Amino acid sequence: MTAAELTPLAARRGGPLQGRVRVPGDKSISHRALILGALTVGETTVEGLLEGEDVLHTADAMRALGARLTRGGDGIWRIHGVGVGGFVSPAAPLDFGNSGTGCRLVLGAVAGCPVTAVFDGDASLRQRPMRRVLDPLEKMGARVLEAAEGGRLPLTLQGAADPIPIVYESPVPSAQLKSAVLLAGLAAPGETTVIETQASRDHTERLLKHFGAKIISRVYGEHGRRITLQGQPELEPAPVMVPADPSSAAFPLVAALIVPGSELVLEAVMTNPLRTGLLTTLREMGASIEELDKRDDGGEPVASLRVSAGALKGVEVPAERAPSMIDEYPILAVAASFAEGVTRMKGLQELRVKESDRLAATADMLRANGVHVDIDGDDMIVHGQGRPAGGAEVETHMDHRIAMAALVLGLASEAPVRIDDSAFVATSFPGFVELMCSLGADLA
Ligand code: S3P
Repeated sequence: MTAAELTPLAARRGGPLQGRVRVPGDKSISHRALILGALTVGETTVEGLLEGEDVLHTADAMRALGARLTRGGDGIWRIHGVGVGGFVSPAAPLDFGNSGTGCRLVLGAVAGCPVTAVFDGDASLRQRPMRRVLDPLEKMGARVLEAAEGGRLPLTLQGAADPIPIVYESPVPSAQLKSAVLLAGLAAPGETTVIETQASRDHTERLLKHFGAKIISRVYGEHGRRITLQGQPELEPAPVMVPADPSSAAFPLVAALIVPGSELVLEAVMTNPLRTGLLTTLREMGASIEELDKRDDGGEPVASLRVSAGALKGVEVPAERAPSMIDEYPILAVAASFAEGVTRMKGLQELRVKESDRLAATADMLRANGVHVDIDGDDMIVHGQGRPAGGAEVETHMDHRIAMAALVLGLASEAPVRIDDSAFVATSFPGFVELMCSLGADLA
């Protein structure tokens, strides 16, 4: 992309943020609802679907694999699925854009069907590791016909005509990896088991149950789970309500904490305990976050979050909390730079393989804006100082969360913060700028 095609944006300090808003639907559940809907015979209706670019790429992939999808209005989608094992070979390469989740989950879904598909994505996705997913899928009978170096995209996968159920101990705490194996296991006879020593988000398990699959999740060791899926179920269509995405809510939430005098209500945010590490950490830092109207919405716990500005202090964030807040470290690091004292975030190795090397990108963003940050092995240490200087232009590296974190920093730093490109925000949070401006933020 040339400089002329970039869409820079700046955030500057202003008055308090105030209001009541609902951020878009959860990205993880949106991908899964489309994929499971496509693997179900009959019509599934989804409400509250995230219509961000990542999810729209998954919708296109489901169409290319034979499902019929129609959009009935804002966030309302109907999916006519083809059933487990019912995909057809797509005529053209599947393009997942920036989305590791879409790509890895669909690799799993395709691996259990006798079809061949080419998987591709943008420059960021082409850099990301796919071997971690291909290894178990090959054990289940899928074949990688072609791939770039290290099993990266673009790659061609031939699904298994007779997939083999496996017991797989995941070497990394990744919900994408777990979900890929479970989705491939849908087409295998008998039981497919995934063991994870650190539990990752369980939306695939919850939705599979919602669609009628037999799936059992047991506690494994101190922090893990052992998940067993009975293969070849008849998935039954079931309506899906997508709650608001806690990973998107994190940006206005932290903005409200650091912009003096702010008070916000973020409506109907999913509070699945495997996603709430940020709330736990911010509360330990002294944040005032109240949960209102708690309920269960379509199989996921949900609450409205009332948050108000206040002083924060530095804390130590244990490594075992990382899977429950893996996407929230850039914005937590921003909160930590406004805190009094040192925040040490431990065990962040997985951040190096996100949409960018988020460990480096987060540290660079903060350092450029006058914050003292150390990287010690896989730990990030932020030296809080009350109010950072700001004033820098941040390189976003095709990473939506670096872009939004930098803009939130600029809403409370001394001088404005500029980002080189705001285009990738639309991958997960369409309408971010408008929503923040409606609360009183100065983004232009
Ligand atoms: C996701 C899992 C996480 C997360 C990503 C969404 C999912 O990735 O970072 O944004 O929906 O399963 P990993 O599984 O690689 O940790």
